[in-house]
Amino acid sequence: MIAALLLLLPLPLLLYMAAPRIREMLSSGVCTSPVQLPGKVAVVTGANTGIGKETAKELAKRGARVYLACRDVQKGELVAKEIQTKTGNQQVLVRKLDLADTRSIRAFAQGFLAEEKQLHILINNAGVMMCPYSKTVDGFEMHMGVNHLGHFLLTHLLLEKLKASAPARVVNVSSLAHFLGRLNFHNLQGEKFYNAGLAYCQSKLANVLFTQELARRLKGSGVTTYAVHPGSVNSELTRYSTFMTCMWWLFSCFLKTPEQGAQTSLHCALTEGLERLSGEYFSDCRVGWVSAQARNETVARRLWDVSCDLLGLPLD
Ligand SMILES: NC(=O)c1ccc[n+]([C@@H]2O[C@H](COP(=O)([O-])OP(=O)(O)OC[C@H]3O[C@@H](n4cnc5c(N)ncnc54)[C@H](OP(=O)(O)O)[C@@H]3O)[C@@H](O)[C@H]2O)c1
Ligand SMILES: *[C@@H]1O[C@H](CO)[C@@H](O)[C@H](O)[C@H]1NC(C)=O
Ligand SMILES: *[C@@H]1O[C@H](CO)[C@@H](O)[C@H](O)[C@H]1NC(C)=O
Repeated sequence: MIAALLLLLPLPLLLYMAAPRIREMLSSGVCTSPVQLPGKVAVVTGANTGIGKETAKELAKRGARVYLACRDVQKGELVAKEIQTKTGNQQVLVRKLDLADTRSIRAFAQGFLAEEKQLHILINNAGVMMCPYSKTVDGFEMHMGVNHLGHFLLTHLLLEKLKASAPARVVNVSSLAHFLGRLNFHNLQGEKFYNAGLAYCQSKLANVLFTQELARRLKGSGVTTYAVHPGSVNSELTRYSTFMTCMWWLFSCFLKTPEQGAQTSLHCALTEGLERLSGEYFSDCRVGWVSAQARNETVARRLWDVSCDLLGLPLD
């Protein structure tokens, strides 16, 4: 018994020492594309912190004009300054976008369409995880509303501009968590029952399904679309869940930095020759596995129609 304990004792120490190696293995996947972006225009949602901020910084570094679409403009302005200083690119602009309010989304799109002739890269990155049951301004459950419906509307409103700027790309930041997601059409807004974790997973499954459906619809338009799992990343995402915050703290030595977390989004936005993989799901800068649900075209179509219906958009 004591011998067994003595044998186990060095284990945490070994693990601790091996952590940098293991982290290296887990955070494989680096965007190696040399593509530069002078004259290109990009929009990144939720760009004031975490993965979005690092994604925006790299796009700016490569010379794009980058719009930080943030719900908190003040936070956004601080980050814009920081990116301008670090990259020397002054074309980093902040615009108000609250994905929990369709009026704000429409106002953002209207403003953007009026001021920009082109849009080459749209990164649907913003997201909430495991927040307590709450509703958006329009009465959608928060995860569904922000992570899925908000970005659905945003993409829809910017689609003509993307097409007119082809080749253009849309990157949807989803998650491995989609594996645990089921689309519960009878309880899409969490009114019959609500579990914060499942609600997050459902919304992330919706991201994968939409990427595929959008890819089918955009075939031949020169606009391509990708879903991304960024990895397990040390960011503010766990802010609503004490449990997840503890888990993230416990395993912090295995987490990716936000910069590492941005690599797969960047890979999908930049790497040449990815067009034939439109609609695919990427992890660690490679095509990754999706759940069976996430490959179900019937569910994807239905979700598309239901989303149009909820947002008052014409079915097509
Ligand atoms: N971290 C991970 O391990 C992980 C794993 C898988 C997938 N992801 C995905 O990666 C994406 C980025 O997450 P992150 O880890 O960088 O988290 P984060 O640090 O919490 O950043 C999330 C961003 O989304 C913004 N946001 C939240 N609600 C919004 C709203 N209603 N309107 C506009 N913006 C809103 C936040 O703005 P405020 O700062 O103003 O709240 C923030 O900028 C998310 O889609 C997430 O699901 C992350
Ligand atoms: C991304 O997801 C949003 C919402 O889930 C959807 O509206 C949009 O069509 C998707 N875009 C891509 C490129 O997958
Ligand atoms: C797709 O999902 C529906 C509803 O969940 C199910 O009835 C159908 O068998 C699934 N199709 C495939 C090909 O898995």
